Amino acid sequence: MILVFGSLNADFFLSIKNFPAPGETILTPKADIKPGGKGANQAAAAARAGGAVKMIGCVGADEIAQVPLTALKSVGVDCSDMQVSPDLATGMAMIMVDAYGENSIVVASGSNGALSADSVSDELLTSETILVMQMEVPLQENFKLLRRAKEKGCRTVLNVAPAHSVPVDILPLVDYLILNEIEAKMIYGSLFEKEAQDINEIALAIAKRTGGACLVTLGKKGSVAARDGDIILVGSLPITPVDTTGAGDAFVGIFAAQLDAEPNLRLALAKASAGAGLACLKFGAQGALPTDEEIMARVGEITLHGSYQVSDAFDR
Ligand code: RIB
Repeated sequence: MILVFGSLNADFFLSIKNFPAPGETILTPKADIKPGGKGANQAAAAARAGGAVKMIGCVGADEIAQVPLTALKSVGVDCSDMQVSPDLATGMAMIMVDAYGENSIVVASGSNGALSADSVSDELLTSETILVMQMEVPLQENFKLLRRAKEKGCRTVLNVAPAHSVPVDILPLVDYLILNEIEAKMIYGSLFEKEAQDINEIALAIAKRTGGACLVTLGKKGSVAARDGDIILVGSLPITPVDTTGAGDAFVGIFAAQLDAEPNLRLALAKASAGAGLACLKFGAQGALPTDEEIMARVGEITLHGSYQVSDAFDR
């Protein structure tokens, strides 16, 4: 079972040609309201890819909560233990998407800021559980839950988005640390107190501090994964993106779904990469989340290179 502990938002999308400069006002015909939040996007992606998913997050006691909740339920995510804040509004994000599918996002955390690790009962934390977390909820609650989850034998996935440093004593509790390039450079800087540009070097160095692997997503360049001193370079699908919002979340959710089905890091990386590309083909963070069948139809196009060929580090 995949247990996602994280954020839910209503995303307010504004389509624009170019991002406004500071002080500039621009017009767009309308805004679209869509389900979002990194946690909810990852839960939905894992469920669409065939995973059995439960999500625990915190929404407000308001109408807007139905935007993320209805979407999650429609793809089969178990929302039965969702926390409700009596006085904070459901999280909201303002997302501008330009003509090239690139975005700029501001999140009003609202009720996500009230999420408590106590909402997760011990029965949910077993050796059969893959716990997936991001950084849009109180970090101390994430870290509290990580400690409990590790004691209970869960496998753990932490997506360090939005970027924030992670305490050195927490990293060994993470089996799969997933970051984008900016987040990876930031974590590397905070861990080693120096800068590095080579993403392979960064992934290898961070991986050594985790309890397993470090995965760095690189947008259209694919991704890099490091484990046990080995590195694997994962390609991407040749696509023309409509909207890249939530592509990283799709990667995380699909990765977790595949790990839950079969612990083979190579296949999980290839499927996550193919699925993240497909997720960019429609508007909205959850607008084009692919099924397992759709991912399998394109996974053969994903190239894998690196020392994994002579190592078993990526077979598990
Ligand atoms: O990763 C994309 C997500 O970030 C959006 O859905 C938005 O809600 C923010 O959380």
